[in-house]
Amino acid sequence: MTESVFDIRVVPTIAELRERLAERRAAGASVALVPTMGALHAGHLALVARARELADVVVVSIFVNPLQFGPGEDLDRYPRTLEADVSALAGLGVAFVFTPSVAEMYPNGPTGTTLSAGEVGSLYEGASRPGHFDGMLTVVGKLLNIVRPDVAVFGQKDAQQIFLVRRMVEDLDVPTAIDAVPTVREADGLALSSRNRFLDPGQRAAALTLIEALRAADAAAPEGLAEVLAEGAAAFGDHDEVTLDYLVVVDPETFLPVADGARGPAVVLVAARVGATRLIDNAAITLG
Ligand code: PAF
Repeated sequence: MTESVFDIRVVPTIAELRERLAERRAAGASVALVPTMGALHAGHLALVARARELADVVVVSIFVNPLQFGPGEDLDRYPRTLEADVSALAGLGVAFVFTPSVAEMYPNGPTGTTLSAGEVGSLYEGASRPGHFDGMLTVVGKLLNIVRPDVAVFGQKDAQQIFLVRRMVEDLDVPTAIDAVPTVREADGLALSSRNRFLDPGQRAAALTLIEALRAADAAAPEGLAEVLAEGAAAFGDHDEVTLDYLVVVDPETFLPVADGARGPAVVLVAARVGATRLIDNAAITLG
């Protein structure tokens, strides 16, 4: 699919994307990138709306990045819905949808040069999914080099991801601003995720445990760290279908666990398995 769909041009190669962006830049346009793995939902569309506010030309990349999936993870079952994704983007002011193949992105195979996410990359999500953040940073680094956007827009739902992307951009002097968009939720609080489509009705109800845990943690925040951890974990007590992976409280500046007695802004990160589906969420709190 290389032809224009509605107002959007779907571009599968790096060379063509660079050529088309060079034309736009020569005419004075600024460029925003929204990196995605497809299976777009309203959360992604909020990123696109923000990108449209920030730049003249919006590029949405759709690439299910094998490097950020470990053995036994859901790479094969990850939803691939390109036609529906392009339709969902129609009319939103997206200029290009970049849809590279794995060979286009990794011409030297998966054992080529990669980025390392360092210590924070091995914690929380990184502890449960070894190598995930190295793979994520590698593809985001490549996308930033390919598109050379003025700004790239990410969702706050993946709080550890956005922390690591911001740090990479700072550490590697990448001349792109990073913008974070608040998590988009269903009316009952469930954070939108491409993986929600795997939940059956019972699991969908059980998945609310994550937001219940975050609300309990927030309510306990004036009492301090121990209460936050206890109340957050207690929310998982009643639900057989949900297995807590981690619930931690981190310093937003370092993403390391906050110390006992800490006060002030913090972020609660939660991850749980609902059936075969892994979900994550987070909330900003103020420790009293
Ligand atoms: O958040 C995601 O969908 C992915 O991790 C990203 C940033 C598109 C990199 O593959």
